[in-house]
Amino acid sequence: MYRIAPSILSANFARLGEDVTNVIASGADWIHFDVMDNHYVPNLTIGPLVCEALRPLTQATIDVHLMVKPVDRIVPDFAKAGANVITFHPEASDHVDRTLSLIREQGCKAGLVFNPATSLDYMDYVMDKLDIVLLMSVNPGFGGQKFIPATLNKLRAAKTRLDAYEKTSGRKIMLEIDGGVRIDNIAEIARAGADTFVAGSAVFSAARDSDPHRYDSVIAALRSELKKV
Ligand code: DX5
Ligand code: ZN
Repeated sequence: MYRIAPSILSANFARLGEDVTNVIASGADWIHFDVMDNHYVPNLTIGPLVCEALRPLTQATIDVHLMVKPVDRIVPDFAKAGANVITFHPEASDHVDRTLSLIREQGCKAGLVFNPATSLDYMDYVMDKLDIVLLMSVNPGFGGQKFIPATLNKLRAAKTRLDAYEKTSGRKIMLEIDGGVRIDNIAEIARAGADTFVAGSAVFSAARDSDPHRYDSVIAALRSELKKV
């Protein structure tokens, strides 16, 4: 089972609600919500108020990717704003285990995000608190960057760890990929082990006025690539 999670970083911010309802009506599964603070990453985006405004527009999972430091202060705000999944970068939290617990206490699924150069070892002692693992396949901060090929081996390594954990615990942890995902590489990325695919520019730059919901063609193309896996 594969999930496609368009990143609204590349949506039209002046018509954000419309883009969200259209992309879900086009067949996308999740809304990926990139939160940047111009401190942990060199860009500034959207916060809990925007999440709260979008929440009534869709039943789809809102997948909040926090690129902020510190992390804990803002977690309850996103939970109250209707986030379903909250992920953060371990380097941005002084107490990774505590932050994971906090996210889950707030009723959300919790996950760690690994930058291209961040070791997977961060997950070792917190597997029981992880619902999702997100590998960055670009350096965080901007949409429209090129997929870093070394991420494929890292995905295989992460998948091995998650499979081993599932065998002993019976619990499945999702494996998400974020950055440079496009029609021409999504199948290869799926083969390397990802089950949840963030795609920003590849989706929102492919709007077609002739599609009933503007993004039907691109979402269908991504899905048909996934069928080849
Ligand atoms: C980057 C963000 C991504 C970004 C992906 O820091 O986390 O979610 O929107 O954009 P694309 O798919 O264009 O690489
Ligand atoms: Zn993201």
